Amino acid sequence: MSTTRTGFSSRLGFVAAAAGSAVGLGNIWKFPYETADNGGGAFFLIYLLCIFLIGFPVMVGEISLGRHTRSNPYGAYLKTGNKNWALVGILGVACGFMILSFYNVIAGWAFGYFLKISFGDLLNEADFGAFFGSYVGQIGELFFFSLAFMAITAFVVMRGVQKGIESAAKILMPVLLAILLGLIIYALTLPGSWEGVEYYLKPDFSKLNLDVINSAMGHAFFSLSLGMGALITYGSYIGKQDNITSSAAIVTVADTGVAFLAGMLLLPLMFAMDLEAAQGPSLIFVVLPKAFAEMGPIVGKVVGGSFFLLVCVAALTSTISLLEVPVSYFVDERKWSRGKSVSVVAAVIFLIGIPSMMSQGFSPALSGGEEGIINYGGKTQDFLTLVADAFSEVSLPLGGLLMSLFVAFRWKTANLSDEISKGNPSYKGSTLEKFINIAISYVCPIILGFIFISNLLEKFFGFSFMH
Ligand code: PHE
Repeated sequence: MSTTRTGFSSRLGFVAAAAGSAVGLGNIWKFPYETADNGGGAFFLIYLLCIFLIGFPVMVGEISLGRHTRSNPYGAYLKTGNKNWALVGILGVACGFMILSFYNVIAGWAFGYFLKISFGDLLNEADFGAFFGSYVGQIGELFFFSLAFMAITAFVVMRGVQKGIESAAKILMPVLLAILLGLIIYALTLPGSWEGVEYYLKPDFSKLNLDVINSAMGHAFFSLSLGMGALITYGSYIGKQDNITSSAAIVTVADTGVAFLAGMLLLPLMFAMDLEAAQGPSLIFVVLPKAFAEMGPIVGKVVGGSFFLLVCVAALTSTISLLEVPVSYFVDERKWSRGKSVSVVAAVIFLIGIPSMMSQGFSPALSGGEEGIINYGGKTQDFLTLVADAFSEVSLPLGGLLMSLFVAFRWKTANLSDEISKGNPSYKGSTLEKFINIAISYVCPIILGFIFISNLLEKFFGFSFMH
């Protein structure tokens, strides 16, 4: 199947871009807290098991499907399956729209913090909790910051796979690693920081239960950018001589490594500065700024500014991949030019993100709480959480479940093996082949089916297996 589709110039280019997609906000604000809170080293072991049993095989499946069909997710299912299976591709394209709509809002918050810490006087605030509340509760500045972030993302994607996505990843990933390592070295020299390392990693097996394991599995999946065809799309741009299994292994290790390192930065910093651990947005937007402020005006600006630059860089390589999924759909299937696709898709996603932007206090109706009008799972919720629940917590495991079933029982593992062995001649007959075939046919569908059902029940029907 020869097409004029241009792709990554080298395997390194693909690995950098795919690792860039995987390393994102999830690695920085979710993984460290989840680990520390759910049994440290014990949680990490479970997480590694999830990565190995479901993350890696699904990633190999997605990349192979993409390379075989040279298509966006919709086209990939259509070419190897039929119109009904292509709906799974449509679900992936829809996830690209919806996940990017709120992810870009959060990236915009981080972008604003980067500017306000580096060039403004944010660190002089007296109460960072109150500051963050009013920051996300207005719309003027946020509109501008998110628009700027979307524009940067669109600019990169507009330049194409090689000149845009690949070049950006090749610059941004080393920058990310350098900032992260620099900050870790600084954090570990602060007195008291090693207690944070101990708190982060000390294994406590008594904390493990079904809920914790479920969230480790769900997070592993999100963190590797699986379930919506981001890697089908990137896989469609790689060469036949590339070794898919080893590329997927490198991406998996890189993502897990960065998540691990983010914890080696955050927990030592919090312990050295005597701050309480917190989760999600308040961890990086409320707790850490306190630490930066205590470092004094100059060091605080440098360390705090670098930290938010790190968050922006991590988010940017992910927003690029989220945007590329719907863009590739319109380019392949609707024959739009790349320029038109990027402009239209980015603009529409930005608009879909506006209610999320307004849902953190600006619009009481959209913000959950007493005046909230969005009600599901037994309580009112804000709009951003609704979109995240529906499209990342529920739809990604569903997409992964359907992808595994599709590869195993419709496309067939023999075809998967054929595709993989093109860049890996010793693959057929290897233990790795047996492992991937069993994982994708049985382990992944069962586990992803479980995550899908339990997240659906828990998020939307207020039912939990643990209570
Ligand atoms: N993996 C990214 C993160 O951890 C998020 C993401 C999900 C990106 C799905 C692309 C596709 O933040």
